[in-house]
Amino acid sequence: MKPDRGRGAPDLDAKDFRDLLGQAADIAARHWERVPDMPAYTRPPEAVVAAFRAQPLPERGAPVREIFDRIERDVVAYPLGVGQRRWWGFINSPPHPVGIAADLIATTLKNNCAGTSQMAIQVELTVMDWLAQLVGLPRGANGLLVSGGSMANLVALAGCREAKLPGTRRRGLRAAAHQPTIYASTEAHSCVRRAVELLGLGTDALRLVPVDREYRMDVATLRQMIAADRAGGLEPICVVASAGTVNTGVVDPLAERRCRAGARVLVPRGRGLWRCRCRAPRARAVVPRHRAGRFGRARSPQVAVCPVRGRRDPGPRPGDPARHVRAPCRIPGARAGLLSRRSGLGFGSGPPAHAGVSGAQGVGGDAGGGRRALPRAVRSDIAVAREIERLAREHARLEVLAPSDLSCFCLRYVPGRGDANAFNRTLLDRTHRDGRMFISGTTLDGRFALRGCVTNFRSTLADAQVCIDTIVELGEQLEQEQG
Ligand SMILES: Cc1ncc(COP(=O)(O)O)c(C=O)c1O
Repeated sequence: MKPDRGRGAPDLDAKDFRDLLGQAADIAARHWERVPDMPAYTRPPEAVVAAFRAQPLPERGAPVREIFDRIERDVVAYPLGVGQRRWWGFINSPPHPVGIAADLIATTLKNNCAGTSQMAIQVELTVMDWLAQLVGLPRGANGLLVSGGSMANLVALAGCREAKLPGTRRRGLRAAAHQPTIYASTEAHSCVRRAVELLGLGTDALRLVPVDREYRMDVATLRQMIAADRAGGLEPICVVASAGTVNTGVVDPLAERRCRAGARVLVPRGRGLWRCRCRAPRARAVVPRHRAGRFGRARSPQVAVCPVRGRRDPGPRPGDPARHVRAPCRIPGARAGLLSRRSGLGFGSGPPAHAGVSGAQGVGGDAGGGRRALPRAVRSDIAVAREIERLAREHARLEVLAPSDLSCFCLRYVPGRGDANAFNRTLLDRTHRDGRMFISGTTLDGRFALRGCVTNFRSTLADAQVCIDTIVELGEQLEQEQG
């Protein structure tokens, strides 16, 4: 490594840089080899955590090689097993080698996409065009790459606020003649509430609409709530509908006609309400067989898209499709400067000025698999989830708690006696310690569920059997222990 240059941090010559990349690549490759069959979760021992946290702020830099060795020993050795063939926790797509490599290139460029004519912006625009086509938005739909679903919903709702309450961007809610209200089902992701809070609309403005027995938004009640709020002098501005809820993966009824997929569609369109879809990864274009609305006649649809859920890589091809590619599309706020990258030299885009970086992954993922591969990929994730559900239905000690349109599953072990919720909470923890698979938990109608979401190109139908065997084996053990 060369001595300091001028003001700042040490620089590297090309050879040292290659050596450094080589060391990092070796660490990544060693991890990569372990991933498919490693434990789905490796808890760090308390002593390792304590020693790590006790490190003082270093007065002097250590040799980079030493730091990397330490990272491999203390961090890489205790991973969440994202990428392991039975990692079904949260909604996490597995890493893919091309995505990993593309990230390296992107971070080497470290482009700031806020302005200037540069190709990183074109990457973002191209990815946006492709995502818009994938989810069936009309030509000319506009969007941004942001850091995730939470930011996507925040930007989408910001666009909605300005469109429905013009002037609020500048003057705040003083510009609103009436208290605005927003509607989302009780199953909508918590980031919708956070977005409403961050935008200064206040949580009282968020109306939680009850769901039906399949955890879809109850549209009849939605209509009543909107009518009552209007009668009470409030101003309904937006319905947030989920296309793939986080708990059970169902699609809220969204539009007012039968879509080409044959989906039943319901939501009221009238009086200029906005419909803001919270993620629509498998809408019409992607999962034609599954119930999913179409943007149809929605006047100003906005979409927060996450091209991750249910996706399965069909084979060697460029890239995991960017964990971070989420796109609110077609926001009239574009006119107000929220989305202005199309202007070429356009400064003043959305919040994340560096997001084009993630776009490189998006391009890799989507260009590599191609549009045709997507439905196949999605279907095979869904097939694994359905197989888990089928096996659970066949087993006397298991109960399926919710149907799913996409690749989520929710079930529980039914203990002979005692509190099933407490039992399944402990059982979930046991599955994490066991490591054969990783799923999360949720509560549905007061019942604690073991919940998974298959977004993993390594998962097979045989893995579905392992899931059931693990739950039953650990459940029986726990019952025995509890006498
Ligand atoms: C439906 C839905 N919306 C939003 C989010 C939040 O996404 P992020 O964690 O990327 O902010 C999630 C996360 O799983 C989700 O499932």
